[in-house]
Amino acid sequence: MNETLILGALDEEIDGIRNAIKAEVVKVGAFEIYRGNYGKSKIIVCRCGIGKVSSAAATAAILTVFPSIARVINTGVAGGIGGGVKRTDVVLGARAVQHDFDCTADGLEKGHVPGFDDVFFDGDEKMLLRMERALKAEGIKYHKGIIASGDMFVADKDTAQNIHDRFGAIACEMESAAIAQVCRIYNVPFIAMRAISDDGGDGAVASFYEFVHIAADNNIRAIKRFLQADE
Ligand code: ADE
Repeated sequence: MNETLILGALDEEIDGIRNAIKAEVVKVGAFEIYRGNYGKSKIIVCRCGIGKVSSAAATAAILTVFPSIARVINTGVAGGIGGGVKRTDVVLGARAVQHDFDCTADGLEKGHVPGFDDVFFDGDEKMLLRMERALKAEGIKYHKGIIASGDMFVADKDTAQNIHDRFGAIACEMESAAIAQVCRIYNVPFIAMRAISDDGGDGAVASFYEFVHIAADNNIRAIKRFLQADE
């Protein structure tokens, strides 16, 4: 069985799965990874750090050293910015976009990274279906939609609204589209799932700290269920 790489920016976002595996700690360049089994699934867990650069660097380093990785899951929390999402609901990323990527001066649409065929990076269909089944089995409220990533913590309702209006995004965060781009380059199937910790408005920082644990744990429950399907 090939391995699954699970990436989260913060300890709070990966602890639930890291603590559930008997892991060997391995250094991959500057990153520490936890390599072990969950049931019959081989997994690698990594706290990649916050933002597009750190998350892309970790993903590229790990995929280079472990070509056995057959799929990548990005887990964590996000601001809910549309589609009626509520705190602790999960957003399963059908597509990811870098909302702060801007080559519009050269005639490209906002978010479009030159060299790629679209503004959006699609989540892997098979993984999405399997994660949907896991979320349903766990009774977790989820929405399938667009997740927008950028190097900013969104804590302003106009900014949140603009990201929603421009891209149709229902969640905003700081890593998944960068990880998606690296996975596209390496041709490895990818999905992001983000539990909502705040609404990207004025109170977003306080709400983030209040909800990060409970929201992140909803994802972890679903990921465990997702992995059990390997058995
Ligand atoms: N992660 C969780 N909430 C967020 C927000 N409002 N903006 C960016 N990343 C987030």
